[in-house]
Amino acid sequence: MYTLQWDDAYVIGQPLIDQQHQMLFQLANRVFHISQEHNQRHALQEVFAALFDYTERHFHDEEEVWQSLEATLCRQHRERHRQLKQSLEAIWSEDSIFAIAETLNRLYDWMQELVDHITQFDRFMNQQIAVNS
Ligand SMILES: [Fe+2]
Ligand SMILES: [Fe+2]
Repeated sequence: MYTLQWDDAYVIGQPLIDQQHQMLFQLANRVFHISQEHNQRHALQEVFAALFDYTERHFHDEEEVWQSLEATLCRQHRERHRQLKQSLEAIWSEDSIFAIAETLNRLYDWMQELVDHITQFDRFMNQQIAVNS
């Protein structure tokens, strides 16, 4: 079974955003755990929906934090969020056509992509905020 371990190396130094990133880890872990306990698609879809909603909210909040930065940077970052959202949505909406194990594999891979996004792009944006203030 998958369990994601939060690592302080993922901290970017912006309390609201760091807190939301940790919440995303918790929600993804809830997806992994619930599928283990119940093996029921309905319960899985519910927690997956919660993860999706929270991801949307997080991206939105984050874009507000970055909005004082240069327009091109903001646009590129928004585009990365859009792609991540799209691939998460695809996992969720295609869930029923795969075995649960495959859905979980795909979510695990997506979380690795999210970690890359956090440690590269979110951190970069936060550094730009620090430089500009
Ligand atoms: Fe983020
Ligand atoms: Fe981001």
